[in-house]
Amino acid sequence: MKRIVIASQNEDKISEIRNPLTALGYEVYSLLDFDIPDIEETGKTLRENARIKAHAVRKITEYTVLSDDSGLEVDALHGAPGVHSKRFSDSTMDEDNNELLLKKMEDKEQRSATFKTVMVLLFNDEREYSFEGSLHGYIHTRQEGEHGFGYDSVFIPVGHSQTLATLGPETKDRISHRRRALREVVNFLKDIA
Ligand code: IMP
Repeated sequence: MKRIVIASQNEDKISEIRNPLTALGYEVYSLLDFDIPDIEETGKTLRENARIKAHAVRKITEYTVLSDDSGLEVDALHGAPGVHSKRFSDSTMDEDNNELLLKKMEDKEQRSATFKTVMVLLFNDEREYSFEGSLHGYIHTRQEGEHGFGYDSVFIPVGHSQTLATLGPETKDRISHRRRALREVVNFLKDIA
């Protein structure tokens, strides 16, 4: 049996990633199945952080590891909050991160932004591959919508007129950066099967 560990403790993320891997014949584990100390995400890029997570998990298991890191890059802020998306404001609360972002964008006409996910697949023979998914859009002028998390309430995807938090989970699951990166991983695993 092929075994893979998702390098996350986040149940929503795990359940999103688990199904397509199970369909490919993998026995899927996550960090909820292992006793692992907190992994410090000290990388300067999403890819570095995804690699740090993958290699930290690799130390405690022989299984193949799939890790990910995501963030929001705002063009008018030179790519911020980017790799610091989770801890943009001092409090790390979504609400405060969004307020800080809207404040920094107050006088900006150029409002384009991109959600990005990098996934790293580290095989038990040390082969390593990375995959990316993006979602382009714009920063709204206020928080709007009840669904989702993080910056969903201030982000309007290209081709839509409402925030991700208003559009809801069905639309988001179809177009999200994480889903696009996952599709790349699944296609790759299908090709090498
Ligand atoms: P993570 O790497 O998936 O834990 O994402 C890091 C941070 O990026 C989160 O804490 C959010 O602030 C932001 N983020 C990542 N993905 C999303 C998303 O799909 N919607 C909104 N915010 C996100």
